[in-house]
Amino acid sequence: MKVDIITLFPGFFEGVFTHSILKRAVDAGALQINIHDLREYTTDKHHQADDYRFGGGPGMLLKPEPIFNAFEDIVSNVHPRPLVLFPSPQGIPFNQHTADELSEKPHLVFLCGHYKGIDQRVIERWIDREYSVGDYVLTGGETAVTTIIDASVRMIPGVLGDLGSALDDSFRDNLLDCSHYTRPENLEGLKVPGILMSGHHKNIEIWRRITARVLTENRRPDLLLK
Ligand code: ADE
Repeated sequence: MKVDIITLFPGFFEGVFTHSILKRAVDAGALQINIHDLREYTTDKHHQADDYRFGGGPGMLLKPEPIFNAFEDIVSNVHPRPLVLFPSPQGIPFNQHTADELSEKPHLVFLCGHYKGIDQRVIERWIDREYSVGDYVLTGGETAVTTIIDASVRMIPGVLGDLGSALDDSFRDNLLDCSHYTRPENLEGLKVPGILMSGHHKNIEIWRRITARVLTENRRPDLLLK
């Protein structure tokens, strides 16, 4: 998967793709990341990237012209056209289903918002999908972009060492994941549930389903309504 990221803060991404599974994906060629500095697409001598809002009010907007310039450069002449994504609190909720779907796309382009957001005409002209990663406001789009890429790239076949571990993650079948244990069997008197030591695979599977269901009922009953 090829991913272009347009950001005012290219340095933010320096560590993101150089560790753990995302690094492995890059090294294996499953993920190719290109970071684009939005300021390089400004045309005024002060390289200004933000401006006041028409109608007044606190908070600046990202100026539309540098973003148009960036998209013309990165998206316009590319065939097939990449999918263009803009994370924002106004977006539709990003979830595991979306991550699965995005993992199959060959080319994604992300725009990172900042300040009060972006001029709506950028969204009208260029953005295919606007996603929110949760009902709170982040200081900028970079962390949301990182979240969306991380959740999507891990679902590309071959990126996780053991895809089976993703298939029983939280949110598969609209359930949270069950609890897991490793050695030692007894940790300062805290014991591993006996059934996990029984070697009886069918009963272990049933225990896992039931505990996942109870956890979901307690913490995320909304998932069970889906
Ligand atoms: N940018 C700021 N807050 C955000 C959120 N909750 N989701 C996606 N992008 C954002």
